[in-house]
Amino acid sequence: MELLQALCCTLLLLLARMQVLLAVSWEDWWTYDGISGPAFWGLINPEWSLCNKGRRQSPVNLEPQRLLFDPNLRPMHIDKHRISGLITNTGHSVIFTAGNDTVANYDGMQTPVNISGGPLSYRYRFHEIHMHYGLNDQFGSEHSVEGYTFPAEIQIFGYNSQLYANFSDALNRAQGIVGVSILLQLGDLSNAELRMLTDQLERIRYGGDEAFVKRLSIRGLLPDTDHYMTYDGSTTAPACHETVTWVVLNKPIYITKQQLHALRRLMQGSPDHPKAPLGNNYRPPQPLLHRPIRTNIDFKTTKSNGKAACPTMYREVYYKATSWKQN
Ligand SMILES: *[C@@H]1O[C@H](CO)[C@@H](O)[C@H](O)[C@H]1NC(C)=O
Ligand SMILES: *[C@@H]1O[C@H](CO)[C@@H](O)[C@H](O)[C@H]1NC(C)=O
Ligand SMILES: *[C@@H]1O[C@H](CO)[C@@H](O)[C@H](O)[C@H]1NC(C)=O
Repeated sequence: MELLQALCCTLLLLLARMQVLLAVSWEDWWTYDGISGPAFWGLINPEWSLCNKGRRQSPVNLEPQRLLFDPNLRPMHIDKHRISGLITNTGHSVIFTAGNDTVANYDGMQTPVNISGGPLSYRYRFHEIHMHYGLNDQFGSEHSVEGYTFPAEIQIFGYNSQLYANFSDALNRAQGIVGVSILLQLGDLSNAELRMLTDQLERIRYGGDEAFVKRLSIRGLLPDTDHYMTYDGSTTAPACHETVTWVVLNKPIYITKQQLHALRRLMQGSPDHPKAPLGNNYRPPQPLLHRPIRTNIDFKTTKSNGKAACPTMYREVYYKATSWKQN
């Protein structure tokens, strides 16, 4: 096994050299399977070493018995106004990116969508949405709950706009990124905003294709819940930067069979070299190690049988507040 890895590594380094000579983008050089798959991302490019060496990586499997109730966690806030942008088949994923001023000008100037509250100490600005999905219904999501994977997951990314100038600048900086994860469950009736995205899929059949999406509400993608789980992790594709505060919402939204079918018709490559269908674009779960997963779900008060199912971060109260009232 180690020999094989060493061999692959040499091969990849060789390929990497060639690639520099050919000035091809690194982006073309990682995949979700084979010798350029997740186990090798950190070996392909020295700038991606965290993908193999990092100890705060994402996604993770969320184990209910590891959840810690934290009474300091507030509800998440995401602005509800609509924005326009581009949906792109990148060959790795389907991505919606908020229009910059040039793109937004189709629709007039647009107000940025702020993301704040929850576990966040700063105000973040919405940047893009990534879609991960399986080629069959058993797999697709990156985050899993008690080992259960969903057919798809939508990740909403924002950057810390109080500290940093833009998304790419924030990617490798402290407290740079927030990732809001929404798990997708198969259902008969889709979330309406999700449909606005999947309605464009026919126009982005091949890698590199993009289409304009008008007036999407990011907040409208969210399920109807204030409950979430949060932990510190990384981006789930190279370069695996460990700068992401993850917020996984505790309720799925719904996607139909037809929408999943439309996603699975997308191709990774161009019309003359379509390569494989786009899908199964999920990174396997990474070790949690000693990271806590906090939640604002107070199982003590939400469980009807009164049994505490979740340990708490409530500290013991050593000091009772004294009365400051002067009588
Ligand atoms: C805005 O986005 C378009 C489409 O992605 C791109 O071609 C253009 O260079 C961008 N403009 C700026 C100022 O970033
Ligand atoms: C988002 O935050 C910026 C910076 O504080 C603010 O100017 C803007 O009004 C906020 N957007 C909304 C919709 O509240
Ligand atoms: C992002 O901000 C950095 C730092 O201000 C700047 O150097 C860089 O050109 C910006 N990148 C984009 C894509 O706007």
